[in-house]
Amino acid sequence: MSRMVYVNGEFMPEAEATISVFDRAFLFADGVYEVSAVVGGRLVDNEGHLARLERSLAELRLEAPVPLEAIPAIQREVVARNELDEGLVYLQVTRGAADRDFAFPASATPSLVMFSQERSLLESPGAAHGISVITVPDLRWQRRDIKTVQLLAASLAKQTAIDAGADDAWLVEDGVVTEGTSSNAYIVTADGTIVTREPTEAILRGITRRAVLRLAVEAELRVEERGFSVTEARGAAEAFATSATSFVNPVVRIDGEPIGDGTPGPITSRLRDLYIEMARSGA
Ligand code: PDD
Repeated sequence: MSRMVYVNGEFMPEAEATISVFDRAFLFADGVYEVSAVVGGRLVDNEGHLARLERSLAELRLEAPVPLEAIPAIQREVVARNELDEGLVYLQVTRGAADRDFAFPASATPSLVMFSQERSLLESPGAAHGISVITVPDLRWQRRDIKTVQLLAASLAKQTAIDAGADDAWLVEDGVVTEGTSSNAYIVTADGTIVTREPTEAILRGITRRAVLRLAVEAELRVEERGFSVTEARGAAEAFATSATSFVNPVVRIDGEPIGDGTPGPITSRLRDLYIEMARSGA
């Protein structure tokens, strides 16, 4: 079955979908996106993603091409038309097509594109055995709280990690870990405290992050929102990352050094279980 994608009001086979070469996301990365997980055919924590979309749009003075309340029905239609049971729905809003000019166009029609990807989220080799990360300088711009499609620095960092034989990179600024290339980063200290960077403009306010911190507090685990250095991370009892597509992903090696005993830690595994329970319940 050919994948059906959504482009500006129409569903079509992916091979028939087109976007203008003048689209400002193509020329200037002038667009924002969201990725929502799908489990059992249902979107996970989607209200959070839509709230963040609204914020990203406002930060870039970008207009939503359809009322935000209309988006979930389109996302569900993408899921249904592709008979998606487990995976993700990607959505992207761009400022639309206009003759190339650095200034925002006086009039351009914003564009909305959506597609799905099948992916095994509940079971993955990373979740079972943990992933390895290397630390690299964070070369991104300073408004990482806006989920723009300007992802080249993150993509380069990810490829650097893969070329080095690792699974991902953790990005470092002023000696402190900001986040992963497409995930938030955490450590667990020897006394069982979960540490993750406070949400500022330096990181994306992960929707999974928010849910996981809430679940941690409900489970009476200690949480500290502060930066941590690479040295502290290498000596941590546990480490993990969160994102809509990896949920809670154990990190078992940082720069080649095993974290704890080099296997997924108990607090990480517990948080992953709690998150999956929430995702399955259709929250
Ligand atoms: N990325 N930080 C960055 C830089 C990200 O790109 C992402 C998500 C996250 C986690 O956010 P959330 O929990 O809301 O997914 C943190 C998505 C999955 C992506 O680009 O594919």
